[in-house]
Amino acid sequence: MFCSSTRVFAVVCLVASYAALTMSYAATSAVDASAVARAAEPADPHLVLGNQSCVKCHSAEVQAWKQTPHARTFDQLHRRDEAKQIAKKLGLSSIKREGRCVSCHYTEQLDSNNDFHVISGVSCESCHGPAKPWLDLHHDYGGEGINRLSELPDHRRQRIARSVEAGMRNPTNVYLVAQSCLRCHTTADEELVNVGGHSAGSLDFEFVSWSQGTIRHNFVRSDGKSNDVSAQPRLRVMFVAGMIAELESSLRATAVATEKATYGVTVAKRAARSGARLRSVAEKVDSELIDQIVAVFDSITLKLNNSAELTAAADKTAQLGFQFAEQTDGESLSVLDTFIPKSDRYK
Ligand code: HEC
Ligand code: HEC
Ligand code: HEC
Ligand code: HEC
Repeated sequence: MFCSSTRVFAVVCLVASYAALTMSYAATSAVDASAVARAAEPADPHLVLGNQSCVKCHSAEVQAWKQTPHARTFDQLHRRDEAKQIAKKLGLSSIKREGRCVSCHYTEQLDSNNDFHVISGVSCESCHGPAKPWLDLHHDYGGEGINRLSELPDHRRQRIARSVEAGMRNPTNVYLVAQSCLRCHTTADEELVNVGGHSAGSLDFEFVSWSQGTIRHNFVRSDGKSNDVSAQPRLRVMFVAGMIAELESSLRATAVATEKATYGVTVAKRAARSGARLRSVAEKVDSELIDQIVAVFDSITLKLNNSAELTAAADKTAQLGFQFAEQTDGESLSVLDTFIPKSDRYK
């Protein structure tokens, strides 16, 4: 599918490809979640419930979140000189009201008067997807008296697949959350970088070290008793999933590059670097899916005004990344352990 490079049309294009995927999904199987793998998008304000809809059951997670830069950006960003200068260069009158900054620094909701409002910084639904369509699905264990431990495995699989189908970036598949991180931590907006002077993205982003420090909130798996770092086999899958998501997001960013300046050069270099890292992983582990991703990378040209080819490659990478996270047993990736950042590098 051809996707125009302007912001408005890019959104239309994403919605169109989502509709196409949903249709093919309905035609195949009822629980094949891999068919709904798709690009990360800003949370749709019509479907955002806000963190107060989570706190009843996830108060520990909300407490942990309040200590993060993601929560604090709400009170801080618009006061910073650096932010004011970016806004001035772009002719924006309000940082909190302009979609330009809101899509990555805030959570926006449609209120009862049909007005758009920012309600928090980067929140639960920025990473896990807008909750209205999946809230009730995700915690339904299947009847009175059934709990986390007595839920049947088949029911659990279907519940998670349905939540994903309804747009939940459920961390059971880590690729879905890695995509959320990289959507924001790659700045896919040429003018914001070249004219506004915003950074072109967090070039030192790495999924394990950036997710296991201050932003960690792994309470559910221990029934709220502790907040432990994920186990090593899961960290291995996260380590590679982060690289795949970085390749996907840099391909999308390069797809909208039109001039040879800071933006285009930085995002194309980042795509090349992610591709090279995955090639190095492919040499060490035996994974058909990683081999396929490297083949996609080898088939493209990282150049300006190459939107159709690069977007198609990013879509294919997203699909393969989702399958990788779904099918890969971290036990098979132990050779990567020496490369995975240790706890002293956790942010
Ligand atoms: C009525 C209680 C309830 C509410 C409200 C609730 N959750 Fe949950 N949530 C649960 C339960 C129970 C689980 C554990 C499911 C399991 O055993 O895997 C869970 C699990 C999760 C998971 C982990 C994925 C999974 O399927 O295990 C995420 C992410 C999550 N919730 C996010 C949210 C967010 C975001 C909100 C607010 C928009 C929210 N939840 C509101 C009860 C709730
Ligand atoms: C594509 C997502 C994205 C968009 C759009 C975006 N930002 Fe950012 N911004 C980020 C991320 C991610 C960081 C953290 C950067 C890092 O790790 O280096 C950041 C950092 C910043 C910083 C420096 C850190 C700080 O909080 O002081 C400023 C200032 C800033 N952004 C202002 C803006 C302004 C103003 C706009 C709107 C005109 C905007 N940003 C739009 C993602 C974005
Ligand atoms: C910056 C992105 C981000 C934000 C914001 C975020 N999460 Fe998560 N969440 C993740 C990631 C990544 C994981 C998986 C971490 C891992 O496995 O180590 C996760 C895992 C979870 C889990 C499963 C934990 C477990 O023990 O398996 C729940 C429940 C959850 N998040 C709920 C929430 C709630 C509620 C909020 C808001 C207070 C929230 N999340 C905010 C990224 C985020
Ligand atoms: C909706 C956009 C968005 C999403 C999604 C997002 N981030 Fe961020 N993140 C930001 C912004 C913006 C900042 C900078 C906040 C500031 O300093 O004002 C930031 C800052 C951070 C920081 C602090 C960086 C530092 O240098 O100290 C970490 C760590 C981080 N993010 C990790 C993650 C991880 C891991 C994920 C995915 C699980 C994620 N983020 C998802 C927007 C986002």
